[in-house]
Amino acid sequence: MPQHIDLCSAAEIAPGNAIKVETGDLVLAVFNVDGEYYVTDDLCTHGPGSLSEGYIDGDVVECNFHNGQFNIKTGEVVMPPCMVPIKTYKTVVENGRVVIEVE
Ligand code: FES
Repeated sequence: MPQHIDLCSAAEIAPGNAIKVETGDLVLAVFNVDGEYYVTDDLCTHGPGSLSEGYIDGDVVECNFHNGQFNIKTGEVVMPPCMVPIKTYKTVVENGRVVIEVE
């Protein structure tokens, strides 16, 4: 059964912004892309960069450490030096709360 984890209020994150949420063992970046919510791991796959503190342009986030880029929706690398995709989580909004589903 997938587990639902409540992360934050959707209203906390303005469009084009992200926040960092820590829950259990997870450190996550929660993004609002034009009113749609997406969740990825916060820690860049390339090093110590925090993606919730990165620069967001549409559905791309640029790491503030070495300027690598990921697609927020798919986790795919858009720009090196990152090589490994960022993990993404199935995300829903329930009663105004951003919730992820994990196995
Ligand atoms: S730590 Fe993110 S691009 Fe290097």
